[in-house]
Amino acid sequence: MTKNKNNQAIWNSRIKKKGSVLFQKVGSSISIDKRLYKEDIKASIAHVEMLFKQKIISFKIKNKIVYGLGKIEKEIYKKKFDFKNKYEDIHMNIEKRLFQIIGEEAGYIHTARSRNDQVITDLKLWMKSATKEVVLNLDKIIKSTIKISERNIETIMPGFTHLRNAQAISFAHYLLSYVEMFQRDKKRFENNFYNLNENPLGVAALTGTSFNIDRNYTTKKLGFKSPTNNSVDTVSDRDFVLDFLYSTSVCSIHISRIAEELIIWSSDNFELIHLSDKIVTGSSIMPQKKNPDLLEYLRGKSGSLFGNLFSMLTILKGLPLSYFKDLQDDKELVFKSYDNLISCLKIFNEILNNISPNKKKMYELANNGFVTATDLADHLVKNHSMSFRKAYQKTSEIVNFAESKKKRLDELKIEELKKIEPKLNMDVIKVLNLKNSVNSKKSYGGTSFENIKRMIMKYKKL
Ligand code: ARG
Repeated sequence: MTKNKNNQAIWNSRIKKKGSVLFQKVGSSISIDKRLYKEDIKASIAHVEMLFKQKIISFKIKNKIVYGLGKIEKEIYKKKFDFKNKYEDIHMNIEKRLFQIIGEEAGYIHTARSRNDQVITDLKLWMKSATKEVVLNLDKIIKSTIKISERNIETIMPGFTHLRNAQAISFAHYLLSYVEMFQRDKKRFENNFYNLNENPLGVAALTGTSFNIDRNYTTKKLGFKSPTNNSVDTVSDRDFVLDFLYSTSVCSIHISRIAEELIIWSSDNFELIHLSDKIVTGSSIMPQKKNPDLLEYLRGKSGSLFGNLFSMLTILKGLPLSYFKDLQDDKELVFKSYDNLISCLKIFNEILNNISPNKKKMYELANNGFVTATDLADHLVKNHSMSFRKAYQKTSEIVNFAESKKKRLDELKIEELKKIEPKLNMDVIKVLNLKNSVNSKKSYGGTSFENIKRMIMKYKKL
């Protein structure tokens, strides 16, 4: 194998002194990017096949390289590969090993390419599968949420604004609002394919190459859609990393929001939701405790996902073109965010399958706080030709009266109501009923049972 006297890496033969040992340790990325080995080998095979097709390397050399790479892939898969820090990253570790297996002809593999295009080709390939995996897990969550919703179309709970009882709502409708969020997450991840499908391979260090390569060939071989357009932009660009980190952040926001709601709703003071023993943990001192640790974990995790996005934004800000070592950190951020998001999605799916609504308590709580007041105002507008503002005023008076009598709106007698608004008659009674209230919200996107059933059908078709 080509080596200089300091036993340095092959590309380093101009450097005469033994490099900093400390930097070799901290500057090496092999412990992180070894995760890209399959993609690296796949891209290398496509590359040498292209070199052969273009008559840049011989049939014999191409075959030897492909053979060596196959052997390396098996070694890594079987955990028999000795990753070395001093070879810095996955690309050089594989190339070094290729020299050991097939000899000097390994030196042809790096014709017309650089690690600068190699690393992003690998990363994009990896992120394409990762994105598919995220979408798959989102699908599972969407399905679980729809399943619970189907069972709870007529489960009535208080809908909150400012965490104060606002209007009655169907529990299913509430859950389906998260289905909308997760659908948007899916779309956000799927939209990322547009940039992920541009093939960086062949732009080499930053200028392209004088070899007569065929970038369309590797594009097709590797399942990309088209080659990238500008060599300088290609090696500098990490927008696709930002897109991914942003998408994971937004998705984690959604998870943290529902986690927080479930924490509140399952608390001793609300008791709207029951968490099964599978998703609670005990306290080391208080024997009675059942804590929602899993939900808190989900709520907290979004913090590190935002952190990864901000790290990448900061690395890129003001960074001149084209490749700089600064960029090496991109992979760690992507892997961490991916791992965290996937485990959050899996845990969340488990949570969904281990919660049950306390229907009685939901109904009881929905009866607090005069949640049908808006229905009463609407009734005055619709049936007693009042402007909404006038009706609002009258309803406030009725609410004040009920409050002073410590009664709910539906407990007021018709005579009491008539005293404040003489136009009212017995028709008003059904307006103050919770179920009728929920069911009256028939406007598109509203919480009426019919709407919900229709929406569930729609989701199922999707
Ligand atoms: N390990 C490097 C990274 O992940 C690969 C690219 C190295 N390129 C270079 N010119 N040093 O960024």
